[in-house]
Amino acid sequence: MTAPEADEGLAVVVTGATSGIGEAVAARFRAGGARLLLTGRRERAPAGMGPDEHYLAGDLGDEAFAAELIATAARILGPIDTLVLCHGLQGDGAIEAMDLQRASALLDANVLSVFSVLQHAVPAMREGASQVVLVSSRLGMVGIAGQVMYTAAKGGLIMLGKGAAIELAPRGIRVNVAAPGLTSTAAIEAGFDRQPDPDAARRARAATIPMGRLARPEEVAEAIHFLGTPASSYVTGAVLPIDGGYTAA
Ligand SMILES: NC(=O)c1ccc[n+]([C@@H]2O[C@H](COP(=O)([O-])OP(=O)(O)OC[C@H]3O[C@@H](n4cnc5c(N)ncnc54)[C@H](OP(=O)(O)O)[C@@H]3O)[C@@H](O)[C@H]2O)c1
Repeated sequence: MTAPEADEGLAVVVTGATSGIGEAVAARFRAGGARLLLTGRRERAPAGMGPDEHYLAGDLGDEAFAAELIATAARILGPIDTLVLCHGLQGDGAIEAMDLQRASALLDANVLSVFSVLQHAVPAMREGASQVVLVSSRLGMVGIAGQVMYTAAKGGLIMLGKGAAIELAPRGIRVNVAAPGLTSTAAIEAGFDRQPDPDAARRARAATIPMGRLARPEEVAEAIHFLGTPASSYVTGAVLPIDGGYTAA
């Protein structure tokens, strides 16, 4: 792992930075001294932002906002060193129970909005040495009943990352994919709390993971940080599972 101060001056854009994994990613780059532009949908900026950080609220399903985000990054930060695309939408639903509108929303949020930001970002990335991290999921690598469209979207995102890595390699822009496992974010914990026996529900899910526990957001953020800094300078087109061994089984 790199020394904490190693990110001094790095221009970093993080989407999905208002909660969960994205918030932890922002905190990790903040600790390293990076210059940050954060984004999420909620109007209020995330807590703990430093004086030189910026927050822009908007919906990345709206292409005009994706363009505005990157134009703002170019204006405030200059060339972008690191783009972490952490926004996404989780969604359950059996095949026959999911209407097309919901299926379409999962593809929009997890794939098309990522493509849209990437498309605008490419000309704004630092030529010769910069990095993009897409945040997929363990469920982009293996199938699971009841989440067919989520897995389709996250699997599609992995292929977006691999193709982009090849296309952008001649320009020195590396593209890698992080594939987190079940992570103990507020939303995931709230889901357990809604179960009749939350502790039993937690234990049952943890038992499906070789390491026997959920990830902490900070653990996922550390791996994303590696992919999002020059520490991984010869890594591109890779998919890094951060899943306690789930996809190794
Ligand atoms: N948590 C897990 O167990 C897990 C496991 C594997 C993969 N992942 C993936 O990791 C990423 C982060 O997950 P998380 O659990 O940290 O999610 P989360 O807590 O639900 O946060 C999602 C973030 O994305 C933003 N967002 C969602 N839709 C957006 C849109 N249309 N435009 C702009 N921003 C949008 C949200 O902004 P607002 O809240 O401000 O609306 C929020 O900042 C997602 O891609 C998820 O699929 C999570």
